[in-house]
Amino acid sequence: GGRPLIDGFGRRITYLRISVTDRCDLRCRYCMAEAMTFMPREQILSLEEIAAVADAFIARGVRKIRLTGGEPLIRRGIPDLARLIGRHIGTGDLDELTLTTNGTNLARSADALFDAGVRRVNVSLDSRDPAVFRHITRWGDVDKVLDGIRAAKAAGLRVKINMVALKGLNEAEIEPMLRWCAGEGHDLTLIETMPLGMIDEDRTDRYLPLDGVRDDLASRYTLTPLADRTGGPARYHQVTELGARIGFITPLTENFCAGCNRVRITATGKLYMCLGHDDRVDLRAALREGGPAALDALLDEAMSLKPLRHDFRIEERNAAPAVQRHMSVTGG
Ligand code: GTP
Ligand code: 5AD
Ligand code: SF4
Repeated sequence: GGRPLIDGFGRRITYLRISVTDRCDLRCRYCMAEAMTFMPREQILSLEEIAAVADAFIARGVRKIRLTGGEPLIRRGIPDLARLIGRHIGTGDLDELTLTTNGTNLARSADALFDAGVRRVNVSLDSRDPAVFRHITRWGDVDKVLDGIRAAKAAGLRVKINMVALKGLNEAEIEPMLRWCAGEGHDLTLIETMPLGMIDEDRTDRYLPLDGVRDDLASRYTLTPLADRTGGPARYHQVTELGARIGFITPLTENFCAGCNRVRITATGKLYMCLGHDDRVDLRAALREGGPAALDALLDEAMSLKPLRHDFRIEERNAAPAVQRHMSVTGG
């Protein structure tokens, strides 16, 4: 161990996203079809195996780990996993352990996550309007998410709200959401919908380019680009009049792959080198059949597979998704 992970284009990998389950209690229309086939449970890594994989990456210089899904908090034992990984924060080997969640089960885990060393969570909230939220998620109850957000804040966690910008669905709610976030002390990140996996509708119909949204906000507020980054893909701006921060994740209108620092693991232990490509290695096989040394060697092999950039396009009507697997498989 010890050597940093550097890909074929000289990019250093310091951020690992771990999908702990591809399942979810919601079915957001831009993310999933209503009828989904999930991975067989017997193929899912155990929590101990996930912790071992995290250890291997941390030994190779990963400084930030995010647990994702699907919905990570519908899997039992996630606070225990967080505690295992969180030990590395105490020793100074890890800067941040965090979570991306839909918030429906956050209220009951917030304290335990804080105890494990988590200081910040990203909560997906595409609308605060109960009917719109139900429509987007197909059956979700926005009050459960708002309860989760309150509980997280009370537990001492910083909350960032993720909002996928959807034309004609939550478009008119962007500014109210920004004002609400400002009042609550949450950062807000807007995300362009990405063509990942088959869904029941045409993503083109809902695609809202964020360059226009940003110009629109900039005509009403003073937006100052911020230099500090979280290590994620968002470009943040200070909103002077509101004392708030807003981030833009723009895979379609402004590709950010040149600065990519991340890779992602599926719940079954496949290491995907890019959200937008199929290049991967099977860490589970290496771990189970070869042990820690085999796992470590495979990380080097994987680095040479990382593509330069994704090639997402969304303007074409009824086009097949760029990538067949859903966001919930790769963990975003
Ligand atoms: P912060 O640490 O708070 O900046 O979070 P983050 O943006 O790294 O993570 P989050 O899970 O909140 O992701 C927000 C959105 O960014 C999701 O839709 C992710 O799929 C997307 N995202 C994260 N990394 C990448 C990437 O490498 N490429 C693309 N195209 N999208 C990404
Ligand atoms: N495009 C963009 N964002 C997506 N998410 C899920 N699927 C997609 C998609 N196809 C978002 C969720 C969550 C984040 C991790 O990814 O809303 O906020
Ligand atoms: Fe679940 Fe998140 Fe996908 Fe919605 S976007 S279906 S909450 S994984």
